[in-house]
Amino acid sequence: MNKNEIESIIMKYMPEKDSFPPLSEAMCYSVQNGGKRLRPLMMLETCRLFSGDTSQAEPFAAAVEMIHSGSLVHDDLPCMDNDELRRGVLSTWKAFGEPTALMAGDALMAYAFETAARSLLMPHPERAARAMSVLADSAGTGGVCLGQTQDMQFTGKEPDGETLEQIYIKKTCALLQASMAIGALIGGADDEAVKIVDEAALHIGLAFQIRDDILDVTADEKSLGKPVGSDSKNNKTTFVTIYGLSGAQKAVFEHSALARALMLRLPGDKAFFLDLIEKLENRNN
Ligand code: IPE
Ligand code: IPE
Ligand code: MG
Ligand code: MG
Ligand code: MG
Repeated sequence: MNKNEIESIIMKYMPEKDSFPPLSEAMCYSVQNGGKRLRPLMMLETCRLFSGDTSQAEPFAAAVEMIHSGSLVHDDLPCMDNDELRRGVLSTWKAFGEPTALMAGDALMAYAFETAARSLLMPHPERAARAMSVLADSAGTGGVCLGQTQDMQFTGKEPDGETLEQIYIKKTCALLQASMAIGALIGGADDEAVKIVDEAALHIGLAFQIRDDILDVTADEKSLGKPVGSDSKNNKTTFVTIYGLSGAQKAVFEHSALARALMLRLPGDKAFFLDLIEKLENRNN
């Protein structure tokens, strides 16, 4: 599946920009302004490992990108990371003001579930119902909301490596795990396969967030599309501050290797994932 196909799936489910301004404008701005679209891509490619028909995963693919984009809108707010650049343009609060950005993040979360619920009307409603609950947990108390709360709670407090890893599992891995697990569930995977998928996504997620920590130090703003040095500005402990750049990159390689080994236990053509894991471990944006 290529990026254009993912874009059109996301846009098909987004509200019209002018439908309820300024909220709809801020929502569209936050979703439409680029991004790697990693989560919908991983969801649909996981679904494809188990089924030739990925159409019932499409509402979930759009939904997970809405949740992710909404979480970034909130992450950039002055009360969180206080960052003014996102995906190469002004962050949503800079472009629309804080109250509208706060509400746009909330509205994207709600709209995501309105969108995902469409899959309940498709041929396998029981799979969709399970997927809805996985998605809700990963967006909220079992994932992003909890992890982001802990991230702020430990800001300036120097958590140890194990604590930091637990925070990353919530704030970053959970939504990636949900993306892949939902792809598997909708594709009709059995419980054992869903478990392998979930564990592979955990390691992909850890590698992803640790690489994000590295890029915050080594990347340039233009290719990253967000500010560099945000973590040190905010006094955050990261894998780089604990283990150094080479120690952090070593952890990226280790988690990628674990993810690769798990993916190889699944059915279907894994070429897409093997290629993706390799690209992510050396990514520059
Ligand atoms: C950014 O996620 C937040 C992290 C979990 C590190 P992405 O790097 O996937 O952001 P976009 O969607 O490509 O902008
Ligand atoms: C991940 O952490 C944010 C979310 C899970 C929403 P960061 O704060 O490091 O993400 P970036 O670097 O701003 O994209
Ligand atoms: Mg943050
Ligand atoms: Mg941030
Ligand atoms: Mg970061």
